[in-house]
Amino acid sequence: MLEARGVTKSFGGLLALDGATLTVSDGAIVALIGPNGAGKTTLFATLAGFLEPDSGTIGFAGGDVTGLPPHAIAERGMVRTFQITQPFARLSVLENVVVGAYLRTPHRGEAMERAAAVARRLGLGDRLNATAASLTVAGRKRLELARALATRPKLLLLDEVMAGLNPTEIGEIVAIVRRIRDDGVTIFLIEHVMQAVMSLAERVHVIAGGRIIAEGTPAAIASDAAVVEAYLGRGAARRMLHA
Ligand SMILES: Nc1ncnc2c1ncn2[C@@H]1O[C@H](COP(=O)(O)OP(=O)(O)OP(=O)(O)O)[C@@H](O)[C@H]1O
Ligand SMILES: [Mg+2]
Repeated sequence: MLEARGVTKSFGGLLALDGATLTVSDGAIVALIGPNGAGKTTLFATLAGFLEPDSGTIGFAGGDVTGLPPHAIAERGMVRTFQITQPFARLSVLENVVVGAYLRTPHRGEAMERAAAVARRLGLGDRLNATAASLTVAGRKRLELARALATRPKLLLLDEVMAGLNPTEIGEIVAIVRRIRDDGVTIFLIEHVMQAVMSLAERVHVIAGGRIIAEGTPAAIASDAAVVEAYLGRGAARRMLHA
């Protein structure tokens, strides 16, 4: 589904991605974990075409998407969510989701129907006409997911969709993400909530200093205490194993 090879990206003198290489296979739920500033969001932005890599290649769904703009990559089926959600605050929930649906149809009626169906599926059915600004943090995360899902992606890149949520809300999003995958969408997610990583992901990539430093099943990554402690801080391995 996705294959990144040697992806490098600098911001001035700062090397944010340093030859990042990884694959995400069809139909999987794969997690990307790593400390603050490791390059996670930069990697997603580069994969989805919001940043152009300095070097390296990005293969997606059988083609080369390196250097393509975001809309062209979205059309091929790879869509990201944003860590800092940025809905059109004064537009309604439905209108925000419609923005995603227009990627697949120019017809307003069809886009509205599609958007409403996706929003309902994400539990926003009773908020369709509320403004995005009126949503709680959890509601905004759902809206961000709905907007991305309305584009009918093959691969969803989810950037910390559980950050700032309480345990109940996290459990709900975990169930939603699993359902989306069961409907045939491959999931690649950045997550600091280890309990979610452990219960959702089949494979985990660990990034530190812009490099992928480990890859494996959640259990294998969690038991690689040296890796986990060194890059995620003391106590992280224990938290993962007991999540
Ligand atoms: N547009 C930018 N201009 C300059 N530096 C940037 C830019 N975007 C990110 N950086 C820097 O690149 C590095 C990687 O940032 P990135 O946002 O990818 O980290 P992250 O792993 O997503 O962190 P977090 O867990 O805090 O979200 C950081 O040092 C960050 O300050
Ligand atoms: Mg980030």
